[in-house]
Amino acid sequence: MPSLTILLFLFFSKFSAASDTITQYGSLEEDKTLVSNNGIFELGFFTPSTTSSNRYLGIWYTNIPLRTVVWVANRESPITDNSTKLSINSQGDLVLSHSNTVIWSTNTTTTTGVLVVAQILDSGNLVLRDDKDTNPENYFWQSFDYPSDTFLPGMKIGWDLKKGLNRGLTAWKNWDDPSPGDFTGFISQTSYPEEVMWKGSTKFYRSGPWDGTKLSGSPTLSNSVVSYTIVSNKDEFYATYSTNDSSVISRLVLNQTLYLRQRLTWNNDGKTWRVSSQLPSDLCDGYNICGAFGICDVSKAPMCRCLDGFKPKAPQNWTQMNFHEGCVHNQTWSCMDKTKDGFLRFANVKTPETTFSWVNASMTLEECKNKCRENCSCKAYANSDITGEGSGCVIWLGDLLDIRIMANAGQDLYVRLAVSETENRHGNDHSKRKVVVFASTICSAIVILLISIFIYWSSKRKTKVKGMENESQEEDFEQPLFDLASVEHATNYFSNHNKLGEGGFGQVYRGTLPDGREIAVKRLSQTSTQGLKEFKNEVMLCAQLQHRNLVKVLGCCIQHNEKLLLYEYMANKSLDFFLFDSSGRKLLDWPKRHRIINGIARGLQYLHQDSRLRIIHRDLKASNVLLDDKMNPKISDFGLARMCGDDQIEGQTNKVVGTYGYMSPEYAFDGIFSTKSDVFSFGVLLLEIVSGKKNRLFHPNDYNNLIDHAWGLWREGNAIQFIDSSLEDSSILNEALRCIHIGLLCVQHHPNERPNMDLVITMLNNENILPLPKEPSYLIKDILTSRKSSCKSLASFSVNNVTISMLSDR
Ligand SMILES: *[C@@H]1O[C@H](CO)[C@@H](O)[C@H](O)[C@H]1NC(C)=O
Ligand SMILES: *[C@@H]1O[C@H](CO)[C@@H](O)[C@H](O)[C@H]1NC(C)=O
Ligand SMILES: *[C@@H]1O[C@H](CO)[C@@H](O)[C@H](O)[C@H]1NC(C)=O
Ligand SMILES: *[C@@H]1O[C@H](CO)[C@@H](O)[C@H](O)[C@H]1NC(C)=O
Ligand SMILES: *[C@@H]1O[C@H](CO)[C@@H](O)[C@H](O)[C@H]1NC(C)=O
Ligand SMILES: *[C@@H]1O[C@H](CO)[C@@H](O)[C@H](O)[C@H]1NC(C)=O
Ligand SMILES: *[C@@H]1O[C@H](CO)[C@@H](O)[C@H](O)[C@H]1NC(C)=O
Ligand SMILES: *[C@@H]1O[C@H](CO)[C@@H](O)[C@H](O)[C@H]1NC(C)=O
Repeated sequence: MPSLTILLFLFFSKFSAASDTITQYGSLEEDKTLVSNNGIFELGFFTPSTTSSNRYLGIWYTNIPLRTVVWVANRESPITDNSTKLSINSQGDLVLSHSNTVIWSTNTTTTTGVLVVAQILDSGNLVLRDDKDTNPENYFWQSFDYPSDTFLPGMKIGWDLKKGLNRGLTAWKNWDDPSPGDFTGFISQTSYPEEVMWKGSTKFYRSGPWDGTKLSGSPTLSNSVVSYTIVSNKDEFYATYSTNDSSVISRLVLNQTLYLRQRLTWNNDGKTWRVSSQLPSDLCDGYNICGAFGICDVSKAPMCRCLDGFKPKAPQNWTQMNFHEGCVHNQTWSCMDKTKDGFLRFANVKTPETTFSWVNASMTLEECKNKCRENCSCKAYANSDITGEGSGCVIWLGDLLDIRIMANAGQDLYVRLAVSETENRHGNDHSKRKVVVFASTICSAIVILLISIFIYWSSKRKTKVKGMENESQEEDFEQPLFDLASVEHATNYFSNHNKLGEGGFGQVYRGTLPDGREIAVKRLSQTSTQGLKEFKNEVMLCAQLQHRNLVKVLGCCIQHNEKLLLYEYMANKSLDFFLFDSSGRKLLDWPKRHRIINGIARGLQYLHQDSRLRIIHRDLKASNVLLDDKMNPKISDFGLARMCGDDQIEGQTNKVVGTYGYMSPEYAFDGIFSTKSDVFSFGVLLLEIVSGKKNRLFHPNDYNNLIDHAWGLWREGNAIQFIDSSLEDSSILNEALRCIHIGLLCVQHHPNERPNMDLVITMLNNENILPLPKEPSYLIKDILTSRKSSCKSLASFSVNNVTISMLSDR
């Protein structure tokens, strides 16, 4: 740049705000800004908070109406007076100061004798350079080397040993406070580097190491707009990216409140930032979800299993979806006969945590195997570079942590097993194949023999069982039969005084048996012929179900025209009595609500997965969740439940029963029910429990329901407003927000997108990252407009909490 310009800048710098440069003898006052040459970025002073007057020097986009700050200079030392200015001192350092107090400064070793200028570039980089030298290599200092929470195109995130730099991201403390917060993201400075994100000193994500083509756990960084480059050599390791289309404004930010790094892209039509991707992106992305020697697979339920040859360390916890303890060798493994140990190949995995790994880029895979075998601490090996045929060697010393299946990416990992274990599996050692084949021939022979014996035995047994079933179908339900007279006596002849309420298909009475036990009696309405089938169904089912979160059936009574079902009495009625009542709600503090949510989830999980039968409840709602004297939730009313065969996970009916407001769209309109329609109802219930509000009347003119409301607030980042105001304690915030998030995942439109109950329980009880929910399309208005023709009769229903039955008019 000609020095005339500099002189002009010198002259105007006090007056003009449209400059992009300050020079050694000029300065930037508080009310002025620098704007980059093409007007893309602006450097100036700003106040992030509405409650504090703290000011900071920062860089933001000039043309984006929501002020989006991408870099802050004095993160830890806010400006509190109003006479601070930015200038370049005689050593050539950029200094933020008032009077003679330095608030913030750069620390360069600039040679004197040149005119130093500070310039804000169109990339968002603030650089200190020799006035006459624009070569980036020669910058004395640049803000890109000291990122805040934002990774802009052209920035290098990673380390440079020669320059002594380790560039990483550190989130803001919170919305109002740019000082360094808990969340950080850095590239590990090891021989086998990977990106790691932390909350405080806890890892919550790792990218997997560079395998020559990609980071092993981040399948596709680049897309049509953004293209990444990773540079890896002995002095440097960094990631950088560029945007292909200059009209696209995109940035990566470490979120200050969520365990996330998000790519945000500016949407000029909507005038908002849109999240275009995020990390971690699914549950298996969370750090070390399955513990040591575990492997995570999002497409499976449960998502964690042990590597072949390993078994859960704490089986009890493992079945409760608590995977933290991880796995141990299935057989006692010692390194006695290490030269004979075999290796089992796992394909398409994100390779384990690299802290205790060792790399040699010139070894072959075979050498690598031998290297691993030599050292008893070595638990696995792999190629360090998978380009082409693969090359190099990495071995892992110590527990294998944080392995997951990558759908279409990942690489091969060879895990060490005792020789006996690999022999029984299809190990990759060709030399052992023959043995395996031979052994398996013998095995199959034995298996066939065993199967024949079993078939013979069970066919004999079956006829016996069948006989019994036939008997029980007639009269006996394997339940104690109660005598009508004693039930009448217990309930004071079904007096109104004893009436507890009205359930599906009949009324419910309270009673006391002669032995003092308190009971609830459901009396099937005599006029309802329709209910008989459901009644029998319920009795049959209940006979076989036992879980602490399901109401216990004590027995039944079928005599004359009475059909009665006897339950244990629940001292605290049902959840709706508390939840939808202003004083009742106050009694439900958050720990109680959280316990109730968990209890319902476990009850439902039992119905769906754990009980011998697969049962779909079909009418889960607040009034069907009963509470005992200790406020433990118990799911009731199985009159509508449907059993499915083991592999049948979906059914269709032309008789839709259930309760509007809790019904999933595919069930309400197409009669298709599955465990996922129960998950939908659970989601609604979850939102009700957190908000203390009822999902409103199904009414054609009422376009707002609880789901819309929750979604709207959540999307705007205001989900806090959704939480019941009688839950004042802010310590619950994270858990409550998490429940809203899970609720929204459960009410997604497509059944396949909803989590199953295993996953729901995992999500409720771990701090893992949750996937982003899709917009629920159970918006009454959409359904009414799109379904008007086929579902005319729906609009005439204005019932909500009353169980209804209707014939779908297809
Ligand atoms: C700083 O701000 C205060 C209050 O706004 C004002 O009274 C004072 O004059 C200002 N000082 C300078 C140097 O502008
Ligand atoms: C600046 O750097 C020098 C050496 O590079 C170091 O001794 C000094 O403490 C640093 N000053 C600040 C304020 O960081
Ligand atoms: C840039 O985008 C265009 C159109 O989307 C595409 O054809 C081209 O391959 C992209 N270039 C790179 C380097 O990604
Ligand atoms: C553990 O070993 C036993 C006996 O060798 C075997 O039956 C079982 O299937 C193994 N379990 C796993 C999870 O590999
Ligand atoms: C199972 O989990 C509980 C609590 O989560 C923990 O206290 C216990 O130590 C775990 N059991 C084992 C065997 O690690
Ligand atoms: C890496 O492996 C090669 C080939 O086996 C060997 O010559 C070299 O010494 C090894 N380097 C290190 C640091 O172990
Ligand atoms: C095995 O590896 C560990 C960790 O690097 C090392 O301390 C130990 O000396 C090695 N043992 C052998 C026998 O090479
Ligand atoms: C963090 O995530 C929330 C929710 O997606 C979003 O509203 C907020 O803008 C994000 N923070 C940053 C700094 O982007």
